Amino acid sequence: MIKLNASLSFGGELEVPSDKSISHRSALLNSIATGKSKILNYSDGEDCISTLSVLKELGANINLIAKENSYELEIESKGLDSFTKPKNNLYAGNSGTTTRLLSGILSFCNFDSILLGDNSLNSRPMKRIIDPLVMMGADIKSNNNCAPLEFRQSSLNGISYNMGVASAQVKSCIILATLGANSKSVITQPALSRDHTERMLISMGADIQINKNEIIIYPGEINPIDIEIPGDISSAAFWIVAALIHPKGNIILRNVGINPLRTGILDVLIKMGGKIEIFNEREVANEPVADIKVIHSELNGIEINGDVIPKLIDEIPIIIIASVVAKGPTIINDASELRVKETDRLFAMSEFLRGSNIKHDLFDDGIEIYGNSNFSGGNFDSFNDHRIAMSIAISSLISDKETIINNHEAASVSYKQFWNHLESLKVDN
Ligand code: S3P
Repeated sequence: MIKLNASLSFGGELEVPSDKSISHRSALLNSIATGKSKILNYSDGEDCISTLSVLKELGANINLIAKENSYELEIESKGLDSFTKPKNNLYAGNSGTTTRLLSGILSFCNFDSILLGDNSLNSRPMKRIIDPLVMMGADIKSNNNCAPLEFRQSSLNGISYNMGVASAQVKSCIILATLGANSKSVITQPALSRDHTERMLISMGADIQINKNEIIIYPGEINPIDIEIPGDISSAAFWIVAALIHPKGNIILRNVGINPLRTGILDVLIKMGGKIEIFNEREVANEPVADIKVIHSELNGIEINGDVIPKLIDEIPIIIIASVVAKGPTIINDASELRVKETDRLFAMSEFLRGSNIKHDLFDDGIEIYGNSNFSGGNFDSFNDHRIAMSIAISSLISDKETIINNHEAASVSYKQFWNHLESLKVDN
């Protein structure tokens, strides 16, 4: 439990933690590439550590060097067949990305294995990956389409697959499974989602073609690459909104990944009237990176729906916080995926708003926040979800009274230093 109070002003300069999505992929892909690689600035969040511990359980040769707020990894692998039968069940903790991406690899491994996670992970939908993997020839037993997932040794063929949801995890799962299959896959996405897997595989020499919503991927070995992981825009999002809504907010965020399929949050906040400047644009590890300056701005409510949703799916809780103080209503639709994240994030945010007496309507696929409001403070729960804990924490910066967050520790899943950074950015003189 943590108790938080408003601050007189907010801001400064900060390097946000390493990108979670790119960290997972850098370790998974280099562990099935042929040769040696070095990864700098690997995320120290619990989810990315889950990926490393599962890979080690599979016999991956990973040397881990602790740095300040991140890890440096040295990986040596013999290629797609280098994993060995694990002695124990593979435990992915809270990490959906570990589970769904690794499932693609475990489906073609020449041994049986069992993959599971914590209670939250074990209740998240896995049918979305089981269906295409089984179509490819995988032999998977599940608990009513949830983890634990039991993989039996099998041989895979490529598929033509029309994805039902715009999910980077599902897309990446099929791509990884195809690397170890006997023929190509053609994957069609209903809308574009983050393309870190595709970008990394291009750098690794994979035979992959991308044409708008269609991805063609061929089986085959990949080359290792050295990568420096950029900062996570999903972590930066909390500070961007904090600086916008705090009447004395002003912040510079360094080294933030600005992959266009992740920057829906910037598009939406700029549309709402946010003064956000993107500068020092550069390319790191085939990913665009920049510094971002944000100053306090009067925001207006807007409608958020359609193809932008996958580009800001993880940022909707913090966008809801911004909408509360905006002038006029904000209406979010097409976001039913939020109901199957680490927790039902639409419900969790609605509970926070209800406890704060903030007018809103909850829909199956979204939420309307009436706006023109402020935060009352009070006693809230994170529902053990990192992004809910951090979103509520940002509201405390301008709350009338003290904000208490139960299970605030959940933030460590993606952002271990969040509470220290929050304190360091609060200015009270
Ligand atoms: C992720 C994809 C998204 C996102 C998650 C990370 C990834 O999930 O919500 O936090 O790294 O591929 P979905 O693919 O389920 O949309």
